[in-house]
Amino acid sequence: MKNRFRIILATALAMACMTAKADEGMWLPSLISQRIVDMQEKGFKLSAEDIYSVNQASLKDAVVLFGRGCTGELISPEGLLLTNHHCGYSQIQQHSSVEHDYLKDGFWAMSRKEELPNKGLNVSFLERMEDVTDIILKGYTPEMTEEDRVELVKANSKALIAEATKEGKGLRATVEALYYGNQYFLFLYRQYDDVRLVGAPPSSIGKFGGDTDNWMWPRHTGDFSMFRIYADKDNNPAPYSKDNVPYKPKKYFRISTKGVQEGDFTFIYGFPGSTKEYIHSEGVRYIEEIGDPHKIHLRTLRLDIMNKYQAQSQKVRIQYSSKNANVSNAWKKWQGEVKGIKKMKTVRTKQEFEKAFDRWAQGGEFDGIIGKLAGIYAELEPYQFATDYYSETVRTIELANFAMSMARLFKQTDSTVTFDKERASEVAASFYKDWYLPIDKESFIAVMNEYEKNVPADFKPEYYKEKLASYGSIEAWAEDMFTNSIFIDPVRTEALDAADKDAVMADPATEFFNEFLKWYASDIQPVTTRLNQDLQLAYRDYMRGQMVYCRTQRVMKDFYPDANLTLRVAYGHIKGYSPADGVYYTPSSTIKGIMEKDNPEIFDYNIPQRLRDIYAAKDYGRWADASGEVPVCFIATNHTTGGNSGSPVINADGDLIGLNFDRVWEGTMSDIVFDPEICRNIALDVRYVLFTIDKIGEADYLFDEMTFTE
Ligand code: ARG
Ligand code: GLU
Repeated sequence: MKNRFRIILATALAMACMTAKADEGMWLPSLISQRIVDMQEKGFKLSAEDIYSVNQASLKDAVVLFGRGCTGELISPEGLLLTNHHCGYSQIQQHSSVEHDYLKDGFWAMSRKEELPNKGLNVSFLERMEDVTDIILKGYTPEMTEEDRVELVKANSKALIAEATKEGKGLRATVEALYYGNQYFLFLYRQYDDVRLVGAPPSSIGKFGGDTDNWMWPRHTGDFSMFRIYADKDNNPAPYSKDNVPYKPKKYFRISTKGVQEGDFTFIYGFPGSTKEYIHSEGVRYIEEIGDPHKIHLRTLRLDIMNKYQAQSQKVRIQYSSKNANVSNAWKKWQGEVKGIKKMKTVRTKQEFEKAFDRWAQGGEFDGIIGKLAGIYAELEPYQFATDYYSETVRTIELANFAMSMARLFKQTDSTVTFDKERASEVAASFYKDWYLPIDKESFIAVMNEYEKNVPADFKPEYYKEKLASYGSIEAWAEDMFTNSIFIDPVRTEALDAADKDAVMADPATEFFNEFLKWYASDIQPVTTRLNQDLQLAYRDYMRGQMVYCRTQRVMKDFYPDANLTLRVAYGHIKGYSPADGVYYTPSSTIKGIMEKDNPEIFDYNIPQRLRDIYAAKDYGRWADASGEVPVCFIATNHTTGGNSGSPVINADGDLIGLNFDRVWEGTMSDIVFDPEICRNIALDVRYVLFTIDKIGEADYLFDEMTFTE
């Protein structure tokens, strides 16, 4: 018995303390000198200064935050940028209509003049990052409450940001907490707002495999699109203008066409969004047993409805393509995540670790922290559940969202009401372009029935209960809203005026959204905010505690801060994996696999005829590899997450070999727990990008501005 306990304890310790031995980790570029020896031992040939430097041009200057959720990289001295197809998706869609279906047919600017500007799209270069913990915590005393500390951090951050960005010229800055606020870093960015679409393959290449293959290996998706950054004559950020000129980057990637092999070193430089590697077992249990399963179920209902209508009409298919992809993406990921957490027995392992930690902590600084965290989670759970339900039901009703955004355009000053008609017209145009009433109405019925069934009465607004009682059913409610709301009718919406404020507020769609919003703000949010603050505070200690504990147990762990959409380095190597007993996946795929999947009957697998012809004639130009096929994708052991989409995959020499775009399904629990045996990122081989530009897009004029290493 005693022995058994020791073994369990040792395993728990090893799992929780020793992870960084393998390829786990998302490291801070400015501290990469602490990892560089390990990187070099694994094959990397460049120095820490080559990765990140504030004194000279370094690889960081060729990487951008694309929008606020993807990564992109510069591949020419003239501002040419590569990111994923799914990252440029909404831009490609915005330029598409039934007549010019760039989603379906692809788009290639054949000259700079044909590049398409994009409202609202921007890219940010990291100028520098810096540890500012002392400045941010200036004035802090241990007696302070968490609220006061939050206020202090806010005020100090604001001053620091104002100082850091005073030059203007597109500078913006954020202060981010690392390790739950044990450390603060300043991130200074320069943001460019004129970013134009240069090219995108047809979706039958860029989204080949669609949501069927999403999160899966083997994969054959040509998930890329190209943009160009424009600047004013002095290379500074400027809003769109036809006088702008291509941006001249400090650094851009050379492209390696040498090819990749199992075992090769890979380095991913990008903006991972969010991970929770150090959380308490109760946090994991909620995700595994409650949060993810309910959210998955609600999205299954919505997806079934969208899919049904999208299959019936090309117009609806385009209208809902981007929305469907967004809903489906997390839906599928959560399923892999739950499976992975179960398989790894993460809750159990964490509980064992917590027991050992708790025993060790007795009488010391971290005494009681484990119990405290469990207590906060217990209190939080029903509120978290209500929040999850609210956001996956009420907030997904498109008509209600739209109604509310129109209601917000009424402004009351003293006794006069104004209505921003111009803005209203814009918002309405973009809403109606992509809205299909039957989908929204059926979704309302589906998700609100689940809401009724699963959310406890104490966590529902009075408004909702009364309304439902008076309607008699969710169906009757939907009937009223989707028949009588002003907003189902573009003509009535267009005619709205300042005098219509009361009518808009009383509209069934506005009222629905607004009443829930008020309820959430008064009954739920204050509690979740307070409890999350308590959690934050407890985690600040627990995080530090884990670091001290692992050191004292002499099971060394190199800690890395959880991802928070700041620039990180992940490194590893190209490697296959075994997803299940008896199955082994090799690490690269080729065009042959595309032909094996090709099926004109199945939307996701119907490739362009041109690709079939090229394959039949083996007309690969210079893009075939040693086996005579065109390489398409590969997998590697880099630790990545959402936000890393579009990240450059870099080889030992610092050259571009691919474009990150996904992870394997069996490894999606890596946001919570990383398993080096199974967690793999999926990348697009840069040679398939070049092949597609050349042979499908016939836009090989773009090669003239790129630098190839061989
Ligand atoms: N799973 C990838 C990511 O998380 C790709 C998503 C876009 N593709 C799709 N088929 N929905 O962003
Ligand atoms: N496709 C994801 C993204 O948009 C990357 C995949 C992942 O979550 O690792 O960032």
